[in-house]
Amino acid sequence: MLTTNPLRAGPAERLAPPATFAIFGATGDLAQRKLLPALYNLYLDGLLPEAFALVGIGRRPGSDEHYREATLQAIQQFSRRAVDPARWPRFARFLHYWQMDPSDGTAYEQLARWLAILDVSAETQGNRVFYLATPPSLFPVIVRHLGAAGLAEERGAFARLVIEKPFGHDLASARELNAVVNAVFAEHQVYRIDHYLGKETVQNILVFRFGNGIIEPIWNRRYVDHCQITVAESSGIGSRAGFYEETGALRDVVANHMMQLVALVGMEPPLDLQADSVRDEKVKLLRAIQPLGPAQFTNVVRGQYTAGWIGGEWVPGYREEPGVAPDSQTETFVALKLLVENWRWAGVPFYLRHGKRLPRRVTEIAIQFKEPPRQFFSEADGGRPPPNVLVLRIQPDEGISLRFVAKGPGPALTPREVTMDFRYATSFDRDPPEAYERLLLDCLNGDSTLFARRDEIEAMWAIFDQVLHHQREDPALALHFYPAGTWGPAEADHLLQREGRAWRT
Ligand code: BG6
Repeated sequence: MLTTNPLRAGPAERLAPPATFAIFGATGDLAQRKLLPALYNLYLDGLLPEAFALVGIGRRPGSDEHYREATLQAIQQFSRRAVDPARWPRFARFLHYWQMDPSDGTAYEQLARWLAILDVSAETQGNRVFYLATPPSLFPVIVRHLGAAGLAEERGAFARLVIEKPFGHDLASARELNAVVNAVFAEHQVYRIDHYLGKETVQNILVFRFGNGIIEPIWNRRYVDHCQITVAESSGIGSRAGFYEETGALRDVVANHMMQLVALVGMEPPLDLQADSVRDEKVKLLRAIQPLGPAQFTNVVRGQYTAGWIGGEWVPGYREEPGVAPDSQTETFVALKLLVENWRWAGVPFYLRHGKRLPRRVTEIAIQFKEPPRQFFSEADGGRPPPNVLVLRIQPDEGISLRFVAKGPGPALTPREVTMDFRYATSFDRDPPEAYERLLLDCLNGDSTLFARRDEIEAMWAIFDQVLHHQREDPALALHFYPAGTWGPAEADHLLQREGRAWRT
């Protein structure tokens, strides 16, 4: 008799080793919304060790007691699982608060001394993770000071650095940041987070491609007509105008999250699933993408939303959002075509589209296959069959579907469009963890497969560098407007129409 539900079974989860997890920017949005809830959920799953310390580092005065209270509130508000009153006191004891100004170099000596005391009292064996959840301008400052205080050294214990995007704002600044970081921390100590890689369905791209014998043979230019990747959001910029005005859609989502999807869809099979084997193949794919130089600017469409209706609600245009310049040139939408110049993908366009205030939230990868070499069916038979499309739905309603045609019932040989559908929600009886849970656990366990390597980041920026530097002056990159609640400007449709194709809606 089965004693466990086979739908819930999974590989043994890996308990994290003893460690101190120190968060710079402890009272900020990222820590409150994502990091603390993720660590709490790891604790609930029994994946944090007894010997663990969670240190919040912030400028504001505070105490352990106060920090525990603030953390409880954040977890109550943002955790996917409710606070368990019986288990909370143990988690609360992990929490400590350390007040310091991260730009003051002299404060780090004191921090180092205190962490050494904590190593003993919490029995963390000297293992440390430093998580930079601060504004990016502080990254180089903190890294240099950590180095000067000897906190990057690994003497019989690990010292790891986690940084959040944006990793620079163009190729030159990314190289500069990488140089600063790698002057202090060796590459194996650095964990660059792209939270898309922590999503179960993004990891599933690898399993789907390389775990099934029938997929690889057709995953190439002989059978694939094109690939469409959409990251659509119905939300606007919320209260992040300051950040978004500087960033824009291309830097915020396309040049990192979406390029991770492109890399996973397009890469060659790795030698094995070791971190560097997977990342080597991703980098190779990214380097094979034709950089978007002036000759390719017509393959890029930049848009910005104006006021419109979303889900029955009238919403303001981007330029009317609080904190946005009335003549802002920041794009909230990008559509573009990329060409991958290698043997597998030569001539197969990859179309990418991302925007805020689009009709609904959806992230998906659609692989459209070529039509049969001869068409037997005509308008008289009820229409020419649409091409096969395989859709990897990343979110929401995670799953995979394949569109094909089947004979419609009746006396005639009429092709009808049907789909085969796999849905995570019905196939697996298990709530997937949040992306940050997986990533923080991997970092504690020293597995960097799902983190971006230095050369990966630089290869991504290299593709977009010229667009970023010319977007303010080149007429081909001029901003096009679209009402909120629509699928972007008409120019994005033309990008595909001129090649006899259309976006999925
Ligand atoms: C973040 C961007 O990195 O990713 C946001 O800064 C964006 O602007 C978000 O909304 C999208 O992530 P998700 O997980 O909601 O698809």
